[in-house]
Amino acid sequence: PLSARANESDRLEIGGCDVTMLVERFGSPLYILDEETLRTACRQYRDALTAYYPGESQVLYASKAWSCLAICAIVDREGLGVDVVTGGELYTAIRAGVSPQKIYLHGNNKSRDELKFAIAVGCTIVADNWQDLHHLAELTRDGDGSQPQRLMLRFTPGIECHTHEYIRTGHLDSKFGFDPDDLDAVFEFVKAQGNLKCIGLHAHIGSQIFELQPHRDLAGVLVDWVAKARQCGLPVEELNVGGGLGIRYTEADDPPSIDEWVKLIATSVAEACQARQVALPKLLCEPGRSLVGPACVSAYTVGAIKTIPQIRTYVSVDGGMSDNPRPITYQSSYRAAIANRLSAASDRTVTIAGKHCESGDILIGEALLPEPQPGDILVVMGTGAYNYSMASNYNRVGRPAAVLVRDGEANTILQRETYEDLIRQDRLPERLMRSGV
Ligand code: LLP
Repeated sequence: PLSARANESDRLEIGGCDVTMLVERFGSPLYILDEETLRTACRQYRDALTAYYPGESQVLYASKAWSCLAICAIVDREGLGVDVVTGGELYTAIRAGVSPQKIYLHGNNKSRDELKFAIAVGCTIVADNWQDLHHLAELTRDGDGSQPQRLMLRFTPGIECHTHEYIRTGHLDSKFGFDPDDLDAVFEFVKAQGNLKCIGLHAHIGSQIFELQPHRDLAGVLVDWVAKARQCGLPVEELNVGGGLGIRYTEADDPPSIDEWVKLIATSVAEACQARQVALPKLLCEPGRSLVGPACVSAYTVGAIKTIPQIRTYVSVDGGMSDNPRPITYQSSYRAAIANRLSAASDRTVTIAGKHCESGDILIGEALLPEPQPGDILVVMGTGAYNYSMASNYNRVGRPAAVLVRDGEANTILQRETYEDLIRQDRLPERLMRSGV
């Protein structure tokens, strides 16, 4: 995080709070979210759009990266809208006080209940496929056309990019979005619906992307489609280029800055509009990872250490794949440090293992650290995106707490799950409570 530094005791401090003391106070493991870093990233997106895009613009936070009340409230205060993909994320954004006018519901298989919920709260719905359109047409049938449901259309742009295959979405063989061959048919269908108002088009090509060219290509494709939609008579005012900007997890990563990414997109869209004589749409983007990812560290306590001579040292921590499933899911890499001895020389290469009952539960295969001791506080950097949001209770491990730090103050934003929480949904059928049957 931006506000991280070594304090007088040679310990890591974030947001003016000593990480070791945070762990003493709030327990271990602990997600520590730096408010300043999150707010700064929000402003960088906003300021860059204002600087480089000659038309109106809006940044949405892709809340799948980490959906909770506090984060939705912070991004809302920074003027961002929120992208949600399920009823649960929508509910969270609403309960955090985000205005439905700034909420967009995505999803490749929205249930009728989710659609009804979205219609009732009045957010914009991004139709992903024919089922969405048919359900929406039906669910809004009783309207008199005076308050049409705001609708965006998501298409698969057919753009490849280099990232993990699980998180690529722009190629034609993707479950997301209408096939571009359906463009005309979709436009005609929507035009015929008096209670649906197509206000924009959307595409997203993937996540943790370092290249800029795919987004330049995307801008061109989307502007072509905007021109087409308008020719067809749809009142398309908004163009959403999705998210996807990658972040630095390890020294080897070299992603573009937020400023560079926005500049590339804003100028590509503006140029494409000029070349095709298309009036500038309002430009939206919906980053997730690059907003919250760098703003958080996960703090763990070092426990058992096993050295296999000439082979490896396993340093086990009190969390693992349940609070950070990314290494086991995508073979993703992370950096770590020992928070309570920051300046000690990093002269050991060790393997950071989780506590789960799986050999694959390895958080970091090779971490260069000072020799870890049981009781050390180990921090893993850049864990704000897709960690808490993908966390599980595997092995009946409770989700860690999360604290928000700022100016020396720390507030719990997510409580640690207790044993009682873990069995909250359990039900024991009556007959199993009787003895001997
Ligand atoms: N918009 C749409 C429609 C998306 O599908 C996504 C991410 C985003 C925006 C935000 O993308 P971002 O700026 O965060 O790259 N669990 C995976 C990442 C899945 C991304 C899914 N969609 C991971 O941990 O790497």
